[in-house]
Amino acid sequence: MISLSDLRKFKAEGRKFSCLTCYDASMAKAMEIAEIDTILIGDSLGMCIQGRDSTLPVTVEDMIYHTAAVRRGNNHAFIFTDLPFMSYATLNDALASAKSVMQAGAHMVKLEGGAWLSETVSTLTRNGIPVCVHLGLTPQSVHVFGGYKVQARTRETADQLIADCKAVVDAGAAVLLLECVPAQVGKEISELFPNTPVIGIGAGVDTDGQVLVVQDMLGLTFGRVAKFVRNFMKEQSGETAILDAFKAYHVAVMEQSFPAKEHTFQIEL
Ligand code: KIV
Repeated sequence: MISLSDLRKFKAEGRKFSCLTCYDASMAKAMEIAEIDTILIGDSLGMCIQGRDSTLPVTVEDMIYHTAAVRRGNNHAFIFTDLPFMSYATLNDALASAKSVMQAGAHMVKLEGGAWLSETVSTLTRNGIPVCVHLGLTPQSVHVFGGYKVQARTRETADQLIADCKAVVDAGAAVLLLECVPAQVGKEISELFPNTPVIGIGAGVDTDGQVLVVQDMLGLTFGRVAKFVRNFMKEQSGETAILDAFKAYHVAVMEQSFPAKEHTFQIEL
């Protein structure tokens, strides 16, 4: 089973790693067979599984249920679980929520935010709970942003994002996840932290790992699809199509053919 030390080793060696969201045991097994390196039980399950229009209604109980199902189906990947909206608003809430999802089978928890999470990150880390901090576009704050928009589009806002990354890494964050930022910002942040793996979604090809929502990469998202998504299912056929889509994604991440230019935000700062 892949560990946090393996992710650090991959970064040191320049070996990219794959991550997909997953919410159930059978998909988790298919991801094990396809050798997907890491799995995120994302609160995107609010939209993908529950049919909600944002991640906000998702509860800790939902995350426990899906984490346990995924963990039973997969013996290979390093597993991250999102702490949902408002479940880490106080230190006590954060400890209780993180304890529950770790006991359900997560190897790491993911929180959305920036420098203001430093105390939460250090408290969780001191209590033996590794933390990934999700920065850039953070969907739990969609109503603060006023929509799902590319972040850090200017030198000033990129520097603010970098300062947030430094603060949470200093507090103990073991992994960073960047969503919807210019490719140049994804590269700068990945290079800045030699011991901290950085995962990107819409953050360019130079982050250490890549993540996609599984429904997006299987072409099961109807309506608007984000620029950073590639449909890996389109290229497959036959009864092993889903498995082959996962394998093709893993290979494309390793070879850095995904994300291509058309999946990234090329913005001059
Ligand atoms: O919940 C989720 O699926 C996520 C990804 C978009 C990174 O946080």
